[in-house]
Amino acid sequence: KRVGVLISGSGTNLQALIDATQDSTKHIGAEIVLVISNKANVEGLKRAQTANIPTKVLNHKDYANRVEFDRALHDELVKAEVEIVCLAGFMRILTGEFVGKWKGRMLNIHPSLLPLFKGVDAQKQAFESGVQVTGCTVHFVDEQLDNGAILVQDAVPIKPDDTLESLTKRILAAEHQAYPKALHLIATGKATLGGNNQIVWSDN
Ligand code: GRF
Repeated sequence: KRVGVLISGSGTNLQALIDATQDSTKHIGAEIVLVISNKANVEGLKRAQTANIPTKVLNHKDYANRVEFDRALHDELVKAEVEIVCLAGFMRILTGEFVGKWKGRMLNIHPSLLPLFKGVDAQKQAFESGVQVTGCTVHFVDEQLDNGAILVQDAVPIKPDDTLESLTKRILAAEHQAYPKALHLIATGKATLGGNNQIVWSDN
């Protein structure tokens, strides 16, 4: 399957996806054909270039509104014949129109065990809440923020001597395992989004 990855920053999750998809022994069933960033000169773009993956910068500030920006985004993905979209630290809220076009074909990764701790600074929210376990979630994207059907989760313990930094690092390491796993599941059809917005598992 042809994958487009949307980023805004450092792109360590993008790197995990690049490494997994370029490792022929892993049989992920997907190749990254385009990386789009809404910010120029970010580390993630360099990672894509190093891996010889085409990149595109679409600055949201160059568009009149979200609808126009998302239409430009969609056009680029269609032009590259993208079949699956992975959001990897993409810090823009997407319009319902865009989300609808990619329904069942777009994933996001979030640094908490959803539905807990949605939105920004999820690691900090968990750290300050007193929970002893948090983690990461890969989910299908729907119209609500950090809300769609959950595809892969991994738990990460919060240890008594953790700082927010050490916890964030451990969650990120879990993300790098979870995202390729989730991409593999949908690229190979082992998981799809059913009509009732729940995951349908198949053992093909
Ligand atoms: C990750 O923590 C991800 O869960 C969140 O943004 C961060 C992106 O990090 N959505 P990176 O750009 O992949 O390094």
